[in-house]
Amino acid sequence: MEKEKKILYSGMQATATLQLGNYLGALKNWVNLCDEYDCFFGIMDLHSLTVRQNPAEFRQNARKLYALYVAAGLDPEKNCIYYQSHVSGHAELGWILDCFTYMGELNRMTQFKDKSAKHADNINAGLYTYPVLMAADILLYQADVVPVGADQKQHLEITRDIATRFNNIYGDVFTIPEPYIGKTGARIMSLQDPTKKMSKSDENINSTILLLDDRDSIIRKFKKAVTDSEAIVRYGDDKPGISNLMNIYSTITGKTNEEIEREFEGRGYGDFKLAVGECVADELAPIQKRYEELMADKAYLNNCIKENADKARYFSNKTLRKVQKKVGLTEQIR
Ligand code: TYM
Repeated sequence: MEKEKKILYSGMQATATLQLGNYLGALKNWVNLCDEYDCFFGIMDLHSLTVRQNPAEFRQNARKLYALYVAAGLDPEKNCIYYQSHVSGHAELGWILDCFTYMGELNRMTQFKDKSAKHADNINAGLYTYPVLMAADILLYQADVVPVGADQKQHLEITRDIATRFNNIYGDVFTIPEPYIGKTGARIMSLQDPTKKMSKSDENINSTILLLDDRDSIIRKFKKAVTDSEAIVRYGDDKPGISNLMNIYSTITGKTNEEIEREFEGRGYGDFKLAVGECVADELAPIQKRYEELMADKAYLNNCIKENADKARYFSNKTLRKVQKKVGLTEQIR
């Protein structure tokens, strides 16, 4: 890898297929940024264990996620795309950083509070220390920038706090990462309840556009999207449904809100919803086609998975060894 480029790190959980928010808030930005940086993209399967998984489905979902990353435009020969669990350094650094993280800090994490409420029967310690493992992911690769959706901002802040605390004690060990949160697309809301973020675990299937939904389903879901009775395409806090659709349309077409308002002036919501549905379906169609091809080519994906795990292990080991030495763990006698 060329040393002069800065390092970009990001990843997604390996649960179920991706939804439009994952794509517009994160994956699309990764594709746009990947030529500018040396990139590492993780399939965050260890993080997914915080929620009970069906093992066979889980393995399949992780592979689908790998194929979707590539199908969306991340070249696995130029970017290091790998499974988190294939690099043991994540868990090892995670433990060390647990010892540099205060419970008071973890208690403040809104995602922990939300997830505990959602999975009240399984509030495990992994859910609690989830942000520390995420900090380890990022710091292990000395990432300069981490492109994520708005919901991950707090996790980036704690990552920076942990890294700064560690550096203050041991010298400049970690690069302090900057979040990259897109101007549009960083917070895509549910189509059925636009005050709630779009999420793959939503019980109402009409709330969420899945990346593998067919064209008809996409258009149907947009037609059913909850809006308001004003019948004017206008952006505003008082119009969360229409504003969310405008945000989606703007992220894909690059048009500003003013341009969109002008385009749909005097036209009803029906026309606007159809236009949004069509532009999403058009954006996803080539990704879906490439995804099917990749899923059929087992040998190619397996080879990418293996080679990139080797690369990630090699790169991350440098940071891990440095950290182990700094904290005073005894070097192995070889
Ligand atoms: P995850 O798997 O929940 O989401 C993956 C990415 O998608 C973004 N996202 C959204 N963006 C806009 N609108 C939405 N409705 C929406 N829903 C999800 C998320 O912000 C995220 O960028 N903790 C991370 C995974 C992770 C990670 C990391 C990320 C683990 N280690 C290291 C970056 C760096 C997560 O749960 O993402």
